[in-house]
Amino acid sequence: KSKCNVENVVRPFIVKDEDYKKLMGVMLEQFENGLGKDTNSTAKVKMFPTYVRDVPDGSEEGDILALDLGGTNFRVLLISLNGQEVKMESKIYVIPQQIMLGSGTQLFDHIAECIYKFMKDHKLMDKKLPLGFTFSFPCKQIGLDKAILAQWTKGFKCEGVEGEDVVRLLHEAIQRRGDIDVECLAVINDTVGALMSCAHEDRNCAIGLILGTGTNACYIEKTENVGLWDGDNDEPHQVMINTEWGALGDDGCLDFIKTEYDRQVDKHSINPGRQVYEKMISGMYMGEIVRLVLEKLRKNNLIFQGQESEELKSRGRFYTKYVSEIESDEEDNFTNTKQIFKELGFEKVSDEDCRIAQHVCSLVSTRAAYLASAGIAVLLNKMGRPEVTVGVDGSLYRFHPHFHDLMVEKITHLVNPGIKFKLMLSNDGSGKGAAIVTAVANRMRGQKD
Ligand code: BG6
Ligand code: GLC
Repeated sequence: KSKCNVENVVRPFIVKDEDYKKLMGVMLEQFENGLGKDTNSTAKVKMFPTYVRDVPDGSEEGDILALDLGGTNFRVLLISLNGQEVKMESKIYVIPQQIMLGSGTQLFDHIAECIYKFMKDHKLMDKKLPLGFTFSFPCKQIGLDKAILAQWTKGFKCEGVEGEDVVRLLHEAIQRRGDIDVECLAVINDTVGALMSCAHEDRNCAIGLILGTGTNACYIEKTENVGLWDGDNDEPHQVMINTEWGALGDDGCLDFIKTEYDRQVDKHSINPGRQVYEKMISGMYMGEIVRLVLEKLRKNNLIFQGQESEELKSRGRFYTKYVSEIESDEEDNFTNTKQIFKELGFEKVSDEDCRIAQHVCSLVSTRAAYLASAGIAVLLNKMGRPEVTVGVDGSLYRFHPHFHDLMVEKITHLVNPGIKFKLMLSNDGSGKGAAIVTAVANRMRGQKD
């Protein structure tokens, strides 16, 4: 039996390069299954066509309302587009957990109420505004303004929404109130928002990536490669695909790199067996993985010298932001790390404890960054464009001190020679992205009338 020491406990997080390459092969196969007309129904990675066909050309204009649901914050936004110029006001509204786990009617009534409050506060009550909805969950789109929720992910589970068109549910809630005049013209995923907003500044942007509460990516695919596509084959001969890659592994294909900690996180989640890749990467789960490893080390007397903490024993109590804070510490003072463990109830925290905690955090976050890199490398290789910018958003990427650098290093290593790429932070992707897509839809509607 192998000795229980720190290195043995954390070793499963070190994934060999050949395993990342094997993973890339599996991913490509799954992406292609998802895109195929005959294989999509059994595919776990759904590769939903989005009906967003092209990046912005800068001519988008108008005042647009946007909703951003599915990340850390629910927000209502007002965006004024005028060519390259974008003005934005936004407000965060709380969605109580009892609504996140309640009924769909409650959820959409709450959203409609927030729109009402926002319009009242911003003196927009007498205006008829088009609305763009960034709804960051897996949806089968039937059109730009029709999105059927396939299943809830992350922390949401509202009854009566799966299988329904979320735009219809939103419009019904607005009608129930009867006091606001807004019409939702477009639903987009947050990955599409990130792509569109970065493309507004950089026309090479062709991938949108989210590393936040959840993880997902979208990219621009040629319609001829999309067996599922039932729209026209006219210019621009391409469409954005929302991969919903978080569901990778739901058929067991990631079992060869999963650890006992991943299995525990999954078991206690609200969607066991689902979103396996997401649970190994994203912010909703990373802190919990680290907590489980630290608890194991502590129980084996390898850290915290016999001390216990009820907090460290509590599920969900070790936040992913701690991982970023701990990894931001300098080796010689460990200010954040000591503070965090004091808060968690440890009285004596030695430099060695801090060093071990930092090591654990670093292995878990590095694995996450590398796993996401493998996914991006697959998309870059698949697209085969010589130069691609990846628009990235999400709290994990934004606040982790090394995520960007780790990804650049690993993607460079995994991508086909000759392909150049850049990772660009998307600013307010969901607001700006939704507004751009909605402005185009609004203009096209005007042309039809
Ligand atoms: C935000 C976007 O900046 O990032 C959201 O506005 C997106 O649409 C979110 O869902 C993802 O990150 P997080 O960390 O909030 O889940
Ligand atoms: C989850 C959602 C997906 C979203 C991602 C990032 O994976 O299913 O739609 O893009 O989280 O927010």
